[in-house]
Amino acid sequence: MFLLVKHVFILALVIAFWEASPVVTGISIGMSEVSVSVTNSLQGNLNLTIHCKSKDDDLGIHVLPFNGRYQWQFKPNIFGTTLFSCDLSMRDGSIGYDLYSYEKDRLRCPTECIWIAKTEGLVGLSQDAAFSTILVKWQRRAN
Ligand SMILES: *[C@@H]1O[C@H](CO)[C@@H](O)[C@H](O)[C@H]1NC(C)=O
Repeated sequence: MFLLVKHVFILALVIAFWEASPVVTGISIGMSEVSVSVTNSLQGNLNLTIHCKSKDDDLGIHVLPFNGRYQWQFKPNIFGTTLFSCDLSMRDGSIGYDLYSYEKDRLRCPTECIWIAKTEGLVGLSQDAAFSTILVKWQRRAN
């Protein structure tokens, strides 16, 4: 009985400390912010059109001139289901791809997911060297 009371007391202390410590709660509950960017590095001064959506948000259609960059930030939800799927198109082709998926990208690019649209395809840089660079090829338009 004495042991049980002691344990309850310790538990209460731990909870009190936990509540009182913003650092501890911040780390355990908060997800760090992720930034996703797409840069138009297409040869030939071509525009790049991008349209990204999550389940809750439509980020709209954006036209990037050569060297233009489009970027957005968000905090992944605590359920681990955050996903942004995007349609990219340029003169010669298009790509449909998830530019961010918590499940696939939380370790590959925990805070900064950088995409570069090139003539050969969409290149995805990884923050962690354990992950290789991604190349998504353009689906060429039928003439
Ligand atoms: C690129 O987009 C801009 C603005 O939408 C437009 O004025 C321009 O003509 C476009 N350039 C090409 C090469 O399509």
